[in-house]
Amino acid sequence: MRSLSGIQPSGILHIGNYFGAIKQFVELQNDYEGFYFLANYHALTSSPKGEDLKSNTINVILDYLALGLNPKKSTLFLQSDVPEHAELSWILSNISPMGLLERAHSYKDKVAKGIKPNVGLFTYPILMAADILMYSPDIVPVGKDQKQHLEMTRDIATKFNETYNKEIFKLPKEKIVENVATVPGTDGDKMSKSYGNVINMFGSKKALKKQIMSIVTDSTPLEEPKDPDNNITKLYALFATETEVEALKEKFKAGNFGYGHAKNELFDKFMDYFVPFQKKREELENNMDYVYEILHEGAIKARNIATAKMDEVRDAVGL
Ligand code: ADP
Ligand code: NA
Repeated sequence: MRSLSGIQPSGILHIGNYFGAIKQFVELQNDYEGFYFLANYHALTSSPKGEDLKSNTINVILDYLALGLNPKKSTLFLQSDVPEHAELSWILSNISPMGLLERAHSYKDKVAKGIKPNVGLFTYPILMAADILMYSPDIVPVGKDQKQHLEMTRDIATKFNETYNKEIFKLPKEKIVENVATVPGTDGDKMSKSYGNVINMFGSKKALKKQIMSIVTDSTPLEEPKDPDNNITKLYALFATETEVEALKEKFKAGNFGYGHAKNELFDKFMDYFVPFQKKREELENNMDYVYEILHEGAIKARNIATAKMDEVRDAVGL
């Protein structure tokens, strides 16, 4: 059984990427043959400077490894090391209906947030379909925001198979962990690199604390009881046991407990959780040759699969 997923190196990763995606990749490693890539072609949709994309890419591979992806168990690679993704995306774009893409929530949400869309952002789900269908995975572990993109991937695969009257592509299933399906950002909306509402995992203690302190709360005075199901509690629940979450809720309900106190408790839990990963990451940073070697080997393995699949695809479409 095969599992495949990717993350865009479009910024520094945040705890939504970890709990929604990477933590699953790590947990699935023993039972699935894993393929986890860095979606750097996708990252181009946000028009980054070349040097920023390069440094974000290095940061994400370091994050993958520090957070527990094991290159002995999983194939880790850069999307751009397998240019067949772009070729397949073009081929798939010719059987994908405009209407299918026009219904994409993620695109509409980004435009609604004021992001000026380019054509790449619009056709993003087709490239994603190519990324996935190329490797015939059984499951694609993702956060909830990707559910519709997986439906579109299946639609595109079905349309292709029907058009060319051949089972070229296997229909993949998304794997979403319900309790972490959408990690809220510091403003209460979905946490996203593109929305500037993130809590990162790595960075200076001061910067991480500042992000946690920026969680938006209401202005209930310190002494009064507070809604226990607030944004701080939701984030705290990612790190704490059920008993600890209940205890925090009780404090909110009792009053005389400020949001600042709660943020400090969240920060302590957050640090306990991520400090071991931070140490591992520092070790990796001092061993970059090893990191580049992993990407090199991953690229060879991924490309072997991709070239074989493209032979079938080219043959079917008549190229
Ligand atoms: P971003 O939206 O921050 O740019 P990506 O689009 O690169 O993140 O998504 C990478 C993975 O992380 C996807 O599987 C996505 O579903 C997951 N993910 C992103 N944000 C969240 C979130 N707030 N909660 C849960 N999962 C998330
Ligand atoms: Na996203």
